[in-house]
Amino acid sequence: MRSAEMDAFVARVRDASDILSVVASYVPLKKKGGNYWGCCPFHSEKTPSFSVAPEKGFFYCFGCHAGGNVFKFISMIENISYFDAIRSQAEKLGIPMPDREKSEKDVEKERKIADLQRMMEMAKSFFHNCLVKTKYGTAGLQYFAGRGIGADVIKEFGLGFAPSAPGKLRDAFKKRGVSERLLLEGGLVAERQNSVYDKFRNRVMIPIADDRGRVVGFGGRVLGDGQPKYLNSPETLLFNKRRLLFGLDRAKKAIREEGKVILVEGYMDAISLSAAGIKNVVASLGTAFTSEQCRLLLRCTDEICFCYDSDEAGQRATMRALSIVRSTGARVRVLIVPDGKDPDEFVRKHGADAFRKLLKEARSIGDFHLEYVQRTNDIRTLDGKNKALKALLPVLKESNPVEQNEYIQRLRSTLGIDEGIIRQEIAMYHDDGMRAEYRPRAERPSVRTVDDAVRRAGRALLRGAWHDPGVAVMVVAEMGEEPFPYPLHEKLLRYLAECAETGHSPSEEVIEETLGAEAEEEISHALIEEVPEKKDSYEACLRVLLLAQLRKAFEESRLRADAMEREGNSNFLQELSKSQRIKQRIDELNQQIKTEETNE
Ligand code: UTP
Ligand code: MN
Repeated sequence: MRSAEMDAFVARVRDASDILSVVASYVPLKKKGGNYWGCCPFHSEKTPSFSVAPEKGFFYCFGCHAGGNVFKFISMIENISYFDAIRSQAEKLGIPMPDREKSEKDVEKERKIADLQRMMEMAKSFFHNCLVKTKYGTAGLQYFAGRGIGADVIKEFGLGFAPSAPGKLRDAFKKRGVSERLLLEGGLVAERQNSVYDKFRNRVMIPIADDRGRVVGFGGRVLGDGQPKYLNSPETLLFNKRRLLFGLDRAKKAIREEGKVILVEGYMDAISLSAAGIKNVVASLGTAFTSEQCRLLLRCTDEICFCYDSDEAGQRATMRALSIVRSTGARVRVLIVPDGKDPDEFVRKHGADAFRKLLKEARSIGDFHLEYVQRTNDIRTLDGKNKALKALLPVLKESNPVEQNEYIQRLRSTLGIDEGIIRQEIAMYHDDGMRAEYRPRAERPSVRTVDDAVRRAGRALLRGAWHDPGVAVMVVAEMGEEPFPYPLHEKLLRYLAECAETGHSPSEEVIEETLGAEAEEEISHALIEEVPEKKDSYEACLRVLLLAQLRKAFEESRLRADAMEREGNSNFLQELSKSQRIKQRIDELNQQIKTEETNE
């Protein structure tokens, strides 16, 4: 559990934070009523459903249901942990962190990260110096020259060379006091029969940095045709391929300026394009494009241009990557280099202007899909047509009506499928599987199964209970032991009632920590909603909840009684009278509601 000192620190940072200015630095907002509105940065939309309530300190999106306080916003938009969001905000505001009692493990880990970082920087200089300052580097320089890479690019990217002798780096680093254990841990050496030797030998070395420019690993390329073509650093505390994009640190500025990023497969593609003056380019390190990488990019721009290799593998990888990006709201284009196997070859052969021209003509996501499914399915056969249509459904579903119409017309003519059938398939298509990864919270769909009026009433009670915990106590007492219609509200209201009873003030941190992110979003939703006063009467809302609870109990009891009767269980009469009692309660409540309505 957190210490009181930590709580006070978090509260201080929150109080000093102005959620409006924080959000506004990422999202254009307009005032409407008591709240500020804008287009949600967490899902794709054209009309604003994202709102900020500055006085209450919350944001909430009525479209994708993302919501929370200022820290939640920072953590979501910057793709960092909740705690890191608090820390970064504290840093910005100049509020010193209390000396957190770190466990020995934390201290150890932090030290290791710092040691690794220092060692990686050392290794970068070592390889670079080997390339440009020593006789070992000749082969490397020749290799780079053969690929059109000169001194300036070598310097800019900090490119290097790993000598072929097995212990050059090991010996040099040991002399400088780097332990063998650290060398092993950072993947600079490998172990064989009780001794260690340099992992990278006779390769040109490409340092890989994180988005802040700190070297975290290396890719080493063989000079000739050996295998593996690229040897990469192993995963370490610093190096996590899923979260890295090669070149992002250097390309950030250009990406922001150009308003788009070009995503390529290979280190060399990124280096070549950059050398040719096209700087807004990053490489995905050869692995499948991940949602983490996507988030990193969306922090700089909302337009991604995929420019993978033109071979089948590259095109397949593009399809996979598109499915990751599709529902993020990013604008996506696909550039297929017509001549040469990859962007590196193309730009060296035809120059930067030719590449820029391709960039202008890049296909839309729909066009790319359309071409792709036509190419990969035999659309002369019925089976092929079906598969092609199925493959396109996710894209069709998410296109705007104008685009959708256009694709439908084209599909109709290329596949010869009736327009009505296409539309019907689109209407029936559910794509939860594909989107699940991108929904900020996985369990979200369950929310929609509860009746809206009941949820609204529940939120009104949450709103009341947040400001006056006595409301929670009343609700919890009235609802009794039976489950609430909406479990999330039950959790929250029970927590708030507990706060009232123990005299603690409710805290979003505790909600996020103990009840989960969905609960925190719901609280934000409740607090941000603007509801006409008279509908907000707690008794009326409570009755809505009670009614829903009773109706469910009645339904269950009645079914139980039916089943018992069928089974010849003599207790069925008892169950039946129980259900009658519930029914009576329901009628009473309905009666109460009616009289109140006529009194108004
Ligand atoms: P490519 O083979 O397309 O790379 O693999 P490339 O950059 O075009 O290679 P060359 O130097 O021009 O021939 C794309 C990326 O996949 C990863 C690397 O990140 C590479 O840049 N990869 C590829 C590896 O990690 N290991 C390999 O053996 C091959
Ligand atoms: Mn290549």
